[in-house]
Amino acid sequence: METNNNNTVNVMPRIGDTAPAFTAKTTQGEINFPTDYKGKWKILFSHPADFTPVCTSEFMTFGSMAEDFEKLNTQLVGLSVDGLYSHIAWLRTIKEKIDWKGMKDMEIKFPLIEDITMNVAKLYGMIQPGESTTSAVRAVFFIDPQDKIRTIMYYPLALGRNFDEIKRVLIALQAADHFGVAMPADWRPGDEVIVPTAGSCGVAKERMQSSEDEMHCYDWFFCTKKLNKEDVEKALNL
Ligand code: BEZ
Repeated sequence: METNNNNTVNVMPRIGDTAPAFTAKTTQGEINFPTDYKGKWKILFSHPADFTPVCTSEFMTFGSMAEDFEKLNTQLVGLSVDGLYSHIAWLRTIKEKIDWKGMKDMEIKFPLIEDITMNVAKLYGMIQPGESTTSAVRAVFFIDPQDKIRTIMYYPLALGRNFDEIKRVLIALQAADHFGVAMPADWRPGDEVIVPTAGSCGVAKERMQSSEDEMHCYDWFFCTKKLNKEDVEKALNL
């Protein structure tokens, strides 16, 4: 929770909350978030400032993965507290001039929100005064097709995000929903998944003795089963 200058309290969104709604100007026109993206997953992310190196490396990386996120039925939406003309000039510079790690001619086609008022950044708890009062931290909100926030990541100004991890989290969330399972540490498609505990030791014991579903129980509270990579890929259109 955070108190702003008017002494009103901003409650930061949390996992499980409905994504706060807003209207904003972006590089792709005005958007109504999240309603414009009904039925899709959304990744709403912030960066501190246009024309800065870490942010540039992040946008180029996200841009290079745009097709992957499209396949995963996911809309990317970026935000910083810069204005629209700065956004447009920065994205044009990236496309026309930056050649980094084999990425060049990178066109960013997802919307980038202008948030000079910081209204959206504050609504999503992206302004974290201990880190900066004048720019957003590197936040990532994973929002499901029912508009529920499912995962939140925050990174500081000086550390670029791991986009492979962002994609892994999205795939894991989608697979967990589709197959009704939970994912163990470092899960990737093809790894075993966790069978949710049944809530009773009797049932769990029965499970420990059962070979159905190729389940393996390490103890009554920790059972895994196979989930083929191909089944995940088919279900998620990978
Ligand atoms: C950057 O993206 O390089 C950056 C932005 C704000 C503070 C520090 C680094």
